[in-house]
Amino acid sequence: MIQALRGMKDILQPQSERFVHIVETASEIAARYGYDYIETPLLEETALFKRSVGESSDIVGKEMYQFIDKGGNDVCLRPEGTAGIVRAFIQNKLDKRGGIHRFYYHGPMFRYERPQKGRLREFHQFGCESFGESSVYEDFTIILMIKDIFDALGIGYSIKLNSLGCPECMPGYRESLVRHLVDIRDGLCEDCQRRVETNPIRVLDCKNGSCKEALASSPLIVENLCETCDADFRRLTKMLDSHSIPYELDPKLVRGLDYYTRTAFEFVSDEIGAQSAIAGGGRYNRLVEFLGGKPTPAVGFALGIERIMELVKLPEKGRHGIYLGVMEEEALDTILKIAHNKRKSERVFVEYSKRSLKAHLKAADRLGARVCAVIGEEELKDSLVWIKDLETKEERRVGFDQLD
Ligand code: HAM
Repeated sequence: MIQALRGMKDILQPQSERFVHIVETASEIAARYGYDYIETPLLEETALFKRSVGESSDIVGKEMYQFIDKGGNDVCLRPEGTAGIVRAFIQNKLDKRGGIHRFYYHGPMFRYERPQKGRLREFHQFGCESFGESSVYEDFTIILMIKDIFDALGIGYSIKLNSLGCPECMPGYRESLVRHLVDIRDGLCEDCQRRVETNPIRVLDCKNGSCKEALASSPLIVENLCETCDADFRRLTKMLDSHSIPYELDPKLVRGLDYYTRTAFEFVSDEIGAQSAIAGGGRYNRLVEFLGGKPTPAVGFALGIERIMELVKLPEKGRHGIYLGVMEEEALDTILKIAHNKRKSERVFVEYSKRSLKAHLKAADRLGARVCAVIGEEELKDSLVWIKDLETKEERRVGFDQLD
C-alpha cells in the first residue's frame, strides 16, 4: 500500500477542525490589524531562498526540496513564506509605490528535516508581513497581534526577545564574536567549528551542551548595539512592559534564517516537548533591497499550525445541525427541498435511502445532529415532518415550511 511520505501527514477530523479554527481565528485577527490576504506559489526559484534565508543556514544548506524542473530551472518547494512574499512585493512594484503594505498568508512549507514530535517535513504556517513601516511600534503591534491570536485560541506561551542589530553595529559585533569563537574553537561541536567561518552568529543558539558551556562568556549583541538599535530595543521593551506583556530577554536568540535585523522574537510553549517554538519572527529591513527592490523596512512572523493544533482548545459546540430522512421514497423530493433551504443557515445531513425511524435516529445520533427530521407515510399524506430534538428529546410534527 502506498503511504504518505515520511514527515508528511493527512489532517482529518477532529484535527482538521482544529486546523480550520486556527486559520480562521488568526485570519480574522490579522484582518482587524489591517492585513490583506496574499497567496504566492509553493514552488519558487532556488536562488530566491539562497539569497534570502541564506546559503549558510541549515534550511537552505540541508533541508530544501530542490530539483531541476522539465524546463531546466533550478526550483525549490518553499521552506518558509517570507521570501516568496518579498519577491511578490517587488515583482508587483509595491516597493516603488511606497506607503504601507500588510499581508497575511497560510499554507504548506517544506523542510527536509529529521521528523520527530512537532517537526514535520510538510507543515503549515500562518504568517504576516508588514512592509514600509520602520517604526519599532510596528514590531510591538505584531507581537501584540500574536498575543491576541494565542489568547483567542486559549494557548499559553512565553516570549523570547532579542535584537540582532543593523549593518552599522552587526559587523563589529560579528568580528569580536569570531575572535572569541576562534579562541574557544576546540570546545565547539563539529557543526559550530564550521559555522565559525560560514555563519558565526548561528553558533550562539547551538543546542549542544558543550557549545553552550564554551559560549558562556561570549560577547553579546545586545551589549554591542549602535545607538539607534539600542534606543529602538528599549522602546520595544518599554511598550511590552507598559502593556504588561511578559517576555524574556534572550541575547542568544538568533533564529534560523539569515535575513533578520534588529527585533527577533520567538513564542514558545512548554507543553509540546522539544520542538517548543510555536511562532517566530522579527524585522528584516534589508531583504527587499537585497532581492532587488527599493529599500523598504519590513517586519513579520509565522506560527506553526501543527504545533498549535496540539494546544488549542476548541469551543464546545455540542450537537448541531439537522438530519433529514425518509421512510417513503416519494418524500425524498420534499426532503431535498427542505435541505436546500436549511443549508442557508445550518449544517444539514440528508439520507437518500428510505430507512426505518429507528435507523434514522441512530444515524442522526452518530452524526452529532441536534435534530432528526423524518417523513413517513402518514406525514407525507398530511404534509408534515416528524422531528425529534436529540438533546431535549422533545418530539413533534410540523408543517414542511415550519421546520425550525
Ligand atoms: P521559522 O521560525 O522558521 O520562521 O518558522 C515559524 C514557525 O513554523 C516555527 O515557530 C514553528 O512553529 C513552525 N515550524 C518550523 N519548522 C517546522 C517543522 N519542521 N515542523 C512543524 N512546524 C515547524 C519562519 O519561517 C519565518 N518565515 C517567520 C517570519 C515571517 N519572519 C518574518 N516574517
